[in-house]
Amino acid sequence: MTEHRTRVEVGIVGGGPAGLMTALLLKRRGISAAVIETRTKDTIHHTQRAGILEAATVNMLLDAEVGSRVLTSGHEHEGTVLSFDGEQHRIDFQALVGRSVWLYPQNEVFFDLANAWEREGGEIHWAVTDTQVHGVETAAPRISFTDAAGQERSIEADLIVGTDGSRSMCRKLIPEQVRTDHFISYPFAWFGILCEAPPTAPELIYANSELGFALISQRNETVQRMYFQCDPDTDPQSWSEDAIFDHIQAVLGTEGGVQLKRGPIIEKTVLPFRSYVCDPLSHGRLALAGDAGHTVPPTGAKGLNLAFADVRALVPCVEEFITELRADRAETGTGTGPGGTGTGGTESGDTGSGIETPAALRRYSRTALDRVWKAQNFSYWATNLLHRQPEENPFTHRRRRGEFDAITGSVYGQAYFADSYTGWSD
Ligand code: PHB
Repeated sequence: MTEHRTRVEVGIVGGGPAGLMTALLLKRRGISAAVIETRTKDTIHHTQRAGILEAATVNMLLDAEVGSRVLTSGHEHEGTVLSFDGEQHRIDFQALVGRSVWLYPQNEVFFDLANAWEREGGEIHWAVTDTQVHGVETAAPRISFTDAAGQERSIEADLIVGTDGSRSMCRKLIPEQVRTDHFISYPFAWFGILCEAPPTAPELIYANSELGFALISQRNETVQRMYFQCDPDTDPQSWSEDAIFDHIQAVLGTEGGVQLKRGPIIEKTVLPFRSYVCDPLSHGRLALAGDAGHTVPPTGAKGLNLAFADVRALVPCVEEFITELRADRAETGTGTGPGGTGTGGTESGDTGSGIETPAALRRYSRTALDRVWKAQNFSYWATNLLHRQPEENPFTHRRRRGEFDAITGSVYGQAYFADSYTGWSD
């Protein structure tokens, strides 16, 4: 069978929200892109993901003209509730920092972006197999794969963007000698449920007690999302419906506090916690964005927002690089472009000619990583503030309470939380 070849300026590996947002914004700037994804559109759309969008994330969706459903089906939250041992404190985002967040699940963000990309005739291949990325250290990188119909294909590009999630294969194309993997795991996980019930409260509740952490989130008028802290090796089937609700209610406090609204549980999953950063986020003709480059624990609701912040930083840098490349080609007729000599993209390119990383992509990595580390810090800090440690004792519990009071008891502490949670300006 003959391989089917196409050529674009930017080849995108990974069709989740980061990859699709990159593709759409590049197209808006007149830069051609194609996307491949190993999962089906339906699988991604129906995989539960976190639901909080920063204002800057919503603005990107609106600017890209894919935000109308956020406004009609999403819910603006002007604050959130923090609860410790049954005592509740509201953090008023609007009053503190003049920003809100929106509750709108990430899998719906994905669906909106995928529909927009397809509607606009963007090239996308779902459910591909045998993906390989070739020659990122040359001027002519290439993606090869087998499409869902069994056709072997290859996409030639000037640049590859790796948005292939936390188990990224693109990340491994940055040689170990130049890559630092910062990684920590946590001694706990979240037990997530989806249940058919009305909302328990108008806003999210981040709660903790001596029993550990619980989060009361929402989806819509009839379906709710909740989580509680568990051991990473918990079997989701080992908890009965009653045991789950009794436990979450106990974390919220049983006397006078919030009364949990219960209903049939339609999904149970255990989510591991880890913090990971890949440094740098660019190498040769490859740039990473989203979970491919970094993972945060979900406590700070930063995952998708950080991916979109990457895209905000990446797109102008890609535009700068492609513009230079076009000018260079028009002038010299070569395909080398800024950043040094390439081999011209023959198969031998896989071993690497050591093409220099273009300055614009190096700048992208530095800019994105500055925000990534702020988000890593906030996610790590909020996680440790709100979770029971395995070695928790009366001192560590009381000390955490002191830290909690320092945040909730002062306008400065509250403002720190509100500023971080709703998202720093770029
Ligand atoms: C969710 O709604 O799934 C959600 C909300 C906030 C978080 C994490 C998950 O911090």
